[in-house]
Amino acid sequence: MKKKIVAGNWKMNTTYSEGEILAKEIAGQLKEVPEGVQLIVAPPFTHLCCLTGPLREAGIGIAAQNCADHESGAYTGEVSAAMLASIGVQYCIIGHSERREYYGETDAVLLEKVKLAFQHGIIPIFCIGERLYERESNQHFEVVEHQLQNVVCQLSATDFEKIILAYEPVWAIGTGKTATAAQAQEMHAYIRTVLREKFGVAADNTSILYGGSCKPSNAAELFGQADVDGGLIGGASLNSGDFIAIAKAVS
Ligand code: 13P
Repeated sequence: MKKKIVAGNWKMNTTYSEGEILAKEIAGQLKEVPEGVQLIVAPPFTHLCCLTGPLREAGIGIAAQNCADHESGAYTGEVSAAMLASIGVQYCIIGHSERREYYGETDAVLLEKVKLAFQHGIIPIFCIGERLYERESNQHFEVVEHQLQNVVCQLSATDFEKIILAYEPVWAIGTGKTATAAQAQEMHAYIRTVLREKFGVAADNTSILYGGSCKPSNAAELFGQADVDGGLIGGASLNSGDFIAIAKAVS
């Protein structure tokens, strides 16, 4: 069974006290979220240690926004998957377009990160998606297929069964420009087709989230598509009311 998931990526927002308030507000409204919808929040690293316990107790999943591509050692400033696991972090966003774009993370680096996350029992929320010029030049399917082939298709069947995917067209992130429900469905169905070729029917159980300017006003239409299993929410996840409203839109 595909899990319905709504995950909030706080990115580099909120001081610790602001994050604590936001987490409490989300937990306080959790009963409004339909049963069977898993909420996940991904606060900055500095907040994880203190927020993991209360969020998990409330039934909200906790994700890091990144992890290192090495096990341990002289990598100043990095945070390893083992460290995240040691404080109870359950998920990790890997391959976000902002990491690919601003920090030069390649598919090879991302594959290492995904493997290390799995080794430490952390479920990757692996992001894929094309840039604007790639869509405009009709290369979007090819780009997304490569991202899948180079990372997800390299995994064992056992790891693949656990991964969560997020299709985030780069041109829709933080721009207010959302993919239409038809564009999202078309790409999500394509992703599943690519994965089915490698992993067979297991691909039918993979949760594929949509991300990119998702908000309460467009969430229901996006989530109503057959292959859209929830969302990875940026800006709107910083407002607890909007985040919960988006989660309520999951059908
Ligand atoms: P926005 O919802 O702000 O467009 O961000 C989406 C995103 O990048 C989530 O990871």
